[in-house]
Amino acid sequence: MTVAWARPARAEVILDRLDDGERARCAQLLRPSDRDRYASAHVLLRAELGRVLGADPSGFRFAATCRLCGGPHGRPRLLDQLGIEVSLSHAGERVAVAISTVGAVGVDVELDSACAFDGFADVALGPAERPAPPDAHERAVIWTRKEALLKSVGFGLAIAPDRVVVSAPAAAPRLVKWSAPDDPRPVHLVDVDIGPRHAASVAALCAQPPAVRLRPTRLD
Ligand SMILES: CC(C)(COP(=O)(O)OP(=O)(O)OC[C@H]1O[C@@H](n2cnc3c(N)ncnc32)[C@H](O)[C@@H]1OP(=O)(O)O)[C@@H](O)C(=O)NCCC(=O)NCCS
Repeated sequence: MTVAWARPARAEVILDRLDDGERARCAQLLRPSDRDRYASAHVLLRAELGRVLGADPSGFRFAATCRLCGGPHGRPRLLDQLGIEVSLSHAGERVAVAISTVGAVGVDVELDSACAFDGFADVALGPAERPAPPDAHERAVIWTRKEALLKSVGFGLAIAPDRVVVSAPAAAPRLVKWSAPDDPRPVHLVDVDIGPRHAASVAALCAQPPAVRLRPTRLD
């Protein structure tokens, strides 16, 4: 499995590497920083798929089907290629993508400071996980482990993260308890280092621990 990450580039510089649908979605985002992150994550996904598959990045087509309502949103799916699963995430000063040949995958990145609010425990933690650690990075680690798991099964945050219990931040990443539909086990969680002030985790639905190749990259 490949996990690639980058700092966001300016959207207007890289828009020509997206397809028409991606450009239209990007244009709907109001804040320049959101447009930069969106464009960068999708450009990175195309570039990494092109590298892994030895194909032109502009030729890939994606779709999504919501697990809950059937609408055209949710976990991205690569069309025309069997056996390749993808996931992407963008937050703070990072975008990340995961490309898996071993099973469904979810990647999540978070800015540490985004988890430093009163009430984090109420939003994110089950009773057995409280109190929340005071350290913002440890909170972000808990959050990304949970969201990576939820993205790997395709629910995303439609399932409240407090229904998923993960190991303590200092312990090896692991799903401890799943109190939601479709228990994903066997599932493997891996924390990945994407530089200071951010946390990132990837979850893969597969029997054996996946070998993760981490690729820091540049988009500009
Ligand atoms: C989409 C969602 C995962 C975004 O979380 P986030 O931390 O703000 O964003 P991230 O950057 O980590 O991830 C965003 C990416 O996850 C992917 N994604 C979206 N929904 C997903 C899902 N259900 N499962 C897995 N991946 C999903 C998309 O590729 C999305 O990128 P894009 O918007 O640029 O195309 C979260 O807001 C969510 O799950 N919302 C949907 C809740 C829902 O399903 N409600 C019911 C609708 S009927």
